[in-house]
Amino acid sequence: MSLHPDAAPASGDGSRPRIALVGSGSALPRARISNGDLSQRVETDDTWIRSRTGIAARRIAGPGETVTSLATAAGQAALEHAGWKAADLDLIVLATSSPDDLFGTAPRVQAALGASNAVAFDLTAACSGFLFALITAAQYLRTGTVRRVLVIGADQLSRWLDWDDRRTCVLFGDGAGAVALEACDAGEDGLLAFRMRSDGSRNGCLTLAQVEEHRPLLGDLTAQVGGFRPIQMNGQEVYKFAVREVPAVLEDLLRSSGLAADRIDWLLLHQANQRILDAVANRLHIPHDHVLTNLAHYGNTSAATIPLMLDEAVRDGRIQPGHLIASSGFGAGLSWGGALLRWRGPVGA
Ligand code: UT7
Repeated sequence: MSLHPDAAPASGDGSRPRIALVGSGSALPRARISNGDLSQRVETDDTWIRSRTGIAARRIAGPGETVTSLATAAGQAALEHAGWKAADLDLIVLATSSPDDLFGTAPRVQAALGASNAVAFDLTAACSGFLFALITAAQYLRTGTVRRVLVIGADQLSRWLDWDDRRTCVLFGDGAGAVALEACDAGEDGLLAFRMRSDGSRNGCLTLAQVEEHRPLLGDLTAQVGGFRPIQMNGQEVYKFAVREVPAVLEDLLRSSGLAADRIDWLLLHQANQRILDAVANRLHIPHDHVLTNLAHYGNTSAATIPLMLDEAVRDGRIQPGHLIASSGFGAGLSWGGALLRWRGPVGA
């Protein structure tokens, strides 16, 4: 199954409202765990983790830190950056695969922000979640249904790791990032093109699946026990999938947009493995100083990686208004996608 924007209908007057990316924010837990720290728990070492992944440390949520608190802090920072009040918001989409409440964590974030006029819902697509949420939010903006949106990616996968499995526990960290999106009538569109893809036939490569235990209920009837098994991943399969599909989807986007790769200011990929970032950049002939990476500090924060990295690069001045960003999310589902984005930033910045 795949989606691309050529099928999107125009709004009533024949022209679609444009989308501006006007603010960003991020939030991280306080506790930092280095590779050396982890080697005290599982049989691993700094050299292996750094050379195979590029990761040196990760942040892990402690007491009082949750998906809600991290998403709220990231969302608040994005609101302030955009110069908006919480009451201005029409929609909050929270991409997460580790919700505080399976019935939805976004409404908790809405309440904590005081965004009483916004509708808020969760979207689950693992490490593609932020990109899928941004594209979803853009459809509401393009049809004129909403004018101001917060798209948040937040995950606390530390909840769902087997901390005795060295193949997975060294890879992930917790965090949140957010982007403020606004409908605008003039100027260049901040979402130039996108693609979304799913392949559920390869779902088994990366799962956070329900436990399969049933307990007796009445007579012969049983009821399934709620709960999830820790993350299971076939790392090599997911790696091969990523280095094949991510360049393909970005090449497809560039080709259909009539853009050469040298027009891209920044390559902003889901931060899963430095070797994946390098392989994609090489394939697209994008110089490595145009590749954004913060894997060393935070590891793979799932739905949070892209907005966390975006916020860092916006705030330290690497990403400037008007810059063209090629982004791709990929991971469990399997799911993947790409988008060509143009950063605008807050008015007057
Ligand atoms: O965010 C969702 C998307 N996720 C990804 O994109 C992840 C994609 N996959 C990867 O990034 C890589 O496959 C990993 C980083 C997960 C693993 O790297 P690899 O180079 O594929 O290693 P491997 O799984 O082939 O394992 C190589 C060896 C094995 O030992 P043997 O069988 O060769 O003796 C593992 O047991 O490395 C061993 N190993 C470790 N050694 C030290 C696995 N994990 C560790 C560890 N420390 N933490």
